[in-house]
Amino acid sequence: MSVLGTLVGVVIPYVAAFIFVVGVLYRIFTWSKCVVPFKIPTTCGQQKSLPWLNRTFMDRFDSPYTNWETAVRMLMEIFLFRSLWKNVRYELPAQTAVSTKWLWLFALTFHWSLLIVLIRHFRFFLQPVPDFVNLIQGLDGFIEVDIGWLWFQPHVVHIMVTGLTLFVALLYLTYRRLAFPRERTFSLPSDYIALILLLCVAVTGLLMRYVIPVDVAQVKELAQGLLSFHPPASPDLHWLFMLHLLFVSLLLAYFPFSKLMHSAGIFFSPTRNMPNNNRAVRHINPWNYPVKGVDWDEFYENFKGDMEELEQMGYVVKPEEV
Ligand code: HEM
Repeated sequence: MSVLGTLVGVVIPYVAAFIFVVGVLYRIFTWSKCVVPFKIPTTCGQQKSLPWLNRTFMDRFDSPYTNWETAVRMLMEIFLFRSLWKNVRYELPAQTAVSTKWLWLFALTFHWSLLIVLIRHFRFFLQPVPDFVNLIQGLDGFIEVDIGWLWFQPHVVHIMVTGLTLFVALLYLTYRRLAFPRERTFSLPSDYIALILLLCVAVTGLLMRYVIPVDVAQVKELAQGLLSFHPPASPDLHWLFMLHLLFVSLLLAYFPFSKLMHSAGIFFSPTRNMPNNNRAVRHINPWNYPVKGVDWDEFYENFKGDMEELEQMGYVVKPEEV
């Protein structure tokens, strides 16, 4: 058992963490080197233009002109999924676009829940546990429930709301791809892999919390050992925790190769990170080859015959200051 413990508890998590860190840095590095030939901010609101053209307060963030307006738009995108809020669905018989907020709701629920679950997991890795982690743990687990019906004896637990909302949101996001014809058509195996891995992590986590408790002190010893690069020599781990950790490791190793990289990619998205100021600031295409300029005398020399003909016809050919 302890050989398996070392493999699943130490070797695989380290390999996965290595692939994750190197892979994510590599992708960020390659993205940062990409040229952006055109100014392509996607905009909705009124662009900053002539002084008498009024802009509403929200136009500033729908069609940002300055860097800080662009930063606010980015923050609203990251924390509120604002563009998804505007999601519409084209209904064919009626031939109308109807607003649909379900995807927005469940996507937002999933991402916020994941963030809070991960912050709560800091308590395994850090000693003493930071106050903000305890605070979030306390707020998240304010509901106390007797789940004696699962245990055949009284058993009171704190329900971690975000653990459950994470699971429910993942179920909806998977259901949406499987049940709706359009979504099923454009779903690729990679879309399902990410969802299935996340579901496996969530299910094993929920089982540990509510059905088959594991020795949390032992988990903490392993987590802190891994973080300080002094892992226990041959940890004797619970099978369910090993499963949880294995799925987490698979997810980490898969991350840099997957669409999950959108979490870093959003910052590099030109449609989101560029201000819409092309009328005021010229965007230089880095692909432009250097153009050798021609001065007036050289130009005149090149087209002397034509120029003289034009002059004879009465046109003023030479620039005034020449
Ligand atoms: C992508 C990373 C991870 C995700 C999404 C995740 C998710 C979850 C979820 C949803 C739960 C259910 C209970 C709750 O809401 O707290 C849980 C529980 C648990 N997780 Fe994770 N987990 C992750 C990584 C880890 C890691 C790296 C460890 C250990 C080093 C770990 C150890 C545990 C343990 C011991 C429990 C049971 C907690 C308890 O009984 O209070 N998890 N996890």
